[in-house]
Amino acid sequence: MKFFAVLAFCVVGAIAGPLSSDEAALVKSSWDQVKHNEVDILYAVFKAYPDIQAKFPQFVGKDLDSIKDGREFATHATRIVSFLSEVVTLSGNESNLAAVHTLVTKLGKDHKARGVTKSQFTNFRTALVSYLSSHVSWGENVAAAWNHALDNTMAIAFKQLDD
Ligand code: HEM
Repeated sequence: MKFFAVLAFCVVGAIAGPLSSDEAALVKSSWDQVKHNEVDILYAVFKAYPDIQAKFPQFVGKDLDSIKDGREFATHATRIVSFLSEVVTLSGNESNLAAVHTLVTKLGKDHKARGVTKSQFTNFRTALVSYLSSHVSWGENVAAAWNHALDNTMAIAFKQLDD
């Protein structure tokens, strides 16, 4: 059976291995349904986890509802969501796996330098999955594909982050 790896791989250690082509297709098609909802996605993350918002010098201590329509918020939302889009797109092709690994490793290193922890990444993941589950065609198969993809991605980032 042919495998397409999505959002990372098995070379990072004790993880489940690459996604099947079916899982890869489910991740891509569901992401396509929300990848232009940048502000909405960042809003959902900050709303669920204010300590994540508090790590941003430009947003700390500010009322979420009053910053969400601002230019800075849109800029950062676009950075995060574009990063995820890039990873999803690259991961559709096995030959890009090294590039995905490099990107996610750099993300982990850069965030460690900002004092971001593994548990904050895990909370980001929870908020993202919660957002997806209520904004895309969701079902057990889509949930399983995202879980697999995010397990793989987090395993790469976690190598750089502290608890
Ligand atoms: C979970 C807790 C997280 C916190 C507290 C956090 C915090 C930050 C902060 C403070 C910045 C710098 C913003 C600026 O200077 O304007 C940043 C940049 C960035 N973050 Fe995060 N972040 C988190 C998770 C993530 C995740 C999971 C992703 C990707 C899916 C991500 C993607 C990015 C990108 C692409 C940038 C801009 C590039 C860079 O400077 O590294 N962040 N983040």
